[in-house]
Amino acid sequence: MGTPRVLEFPQGFAWGTATAAYQIEGAVAEDGRGPSIWDTFARQPGRILDGTTGEAACDHFHRYPDDFRLMKDLGLRHYRFSIAWPRVVPAGSGKPNSKGLDFYERLVDSMRENGIEPYATLYHWDLPLPLQETGGWTNRATADRFVEYVDAVTRRLGKKIHRWMTHNEPWVVAFVGHLYGAHAPGLTDLRTALAAAHTILLSHGKAVPVIRANGAPGTSVGIVHNLEWIEPASRREEDRAAAARHDGAFNRWFLDPVFRGSYPADMLAWYGKNAPEVQQGDLATIKAPIDFLGVNYYTRRTIAHDPTGDFLHVRRVSLPFVPHADYEEWEVSPEGLYRLLVRVSEDYGRPPLYVTENGTPLPDVIGPDGACHDPVRIDYLGRHAAAIWQANQDGADVRGYFVWSIMDNFEWNLGFTKRFGLVHVDCSTQRRTVKDSGRWFSAVARENRLSI
Ligand code: FCB
Repeated sequence: MGTPRVLEFPQGFAWGTATAAYQIEGAVAEDGRGPSIWDTFARQPGRILDGTTGEAACDHFHRYPDDFRLMKDLGLRHYRFSIAWPRVVPAGSGKPNSKGLDFYERLVDSMRENGIEPYATLYHWDLPLPLQETGGWTNRATADRFVEYVDAVTRRLGKKIHRWMTHNEPWVVAFVGHLYGAHAPGLTDLRTALAAAHTILLSHGKAVPVIRANGAPGTSVGIVHNLEWIEPASRREEDRAAAARHDGAFNRWFLDPVFRGSYPADMLAWYGKNAPEVQQGDLATIKAPIDFLGVNYYTRRTIAHDPTGDFLHVRRVSLPFVPHADYEEWEVSPEGLYRLLVRVSEDYGRPPLYVTENGTPLPDVIGPDGACHDPVRIDYLGRHAAAIWQANQDGADVRGYFVWSIMDNFEWNLGFTKRFGLVHVDCSTQRRTVKDSGRWFSAVARENRLSI
């Protein structure tokens, strides 16, 4: 341990937090909201680890004025949230629900009153249920329904929100939802997953010009991908090839179409007849120019060749000397974030980047002193913020860091068993308690500087 270093961030760097509608809002049947695939999925026995659903979640639908006041008090002035499609177009197609739009207008007005800049994600996994009944993301028509929904939202809110993200983590939607079956809609087929990924990317490309047309001058539009830093388990050729395939499936399959208008040739060859049907003009549509890329980063992976492994013939190696987060064997690696940001920047033409999610789950409790001490999270966040600082020294253009999450919330198939928040939420009383990490992050955001 040497003397702490002080890292100064560029003026205007956005220190923020992130959430998603289904994970915090609750009020699933209020003001005309229709059912989403997550409502029905969460109700199926055995789908959610602790048997909970997002029906009440953090009751943010009713408590947002207090939640935004708390953010203001903490000096957290940048906030990434998502808009629920089933509130805006409850049937998935047809007439928008004005009460749903009213809610988001109130929400954004309340952010602005508290000096909070909104960053809106248009799809964070809550597909209107009626659209799943016609094939969901495997049906190309869903891309057009998405554009109609985006048009309705941005007509109403395009002058109030200046930063938009079309999708959150298409890989997760496609693969965890359609191949691994752990998320809604719970399907398990590779060809289906790749078809879903293609429709999602297509819907992104179609939505970008609509958002711009309805937005105020200076509106910026992007997409959020979950990316991993991947290392081969050894220098053996077969492990290197395995790592390249994992990188191809996880990172390049989603970055190349958006930035280059093509799918990676090695992966097209690997997928063979499982590759999606790409129609004339699709890739040009997907390549619609964007203003920034959102990067969600949680882990580094070490990958070995394994012909008995999954569809990529790879296996994840768990290294006992590397710290892991309590979540699907996530390696804790701020260095992975640093390398990833520099690599994305070099490979894709130095796009403006935001780290739109990063954080770690801990078994946080309120102690006898009434406080929640989470030094492990402070250490984690500090090192990842330092990785961003270093990436900027080395050529990346990272403009913001959003912690997942402002508050503990419904963690999809893991229910309420994982706490990621800077603010502790007691699910039975809805009481909010700022954790030590929340106070720490508040100071970093206010000072725009990190001591590490
Ligand atoms: C990301 C999701 C987010 C949250 C975090 C922990 O994959 O985008 O909703 O669940 O993981």
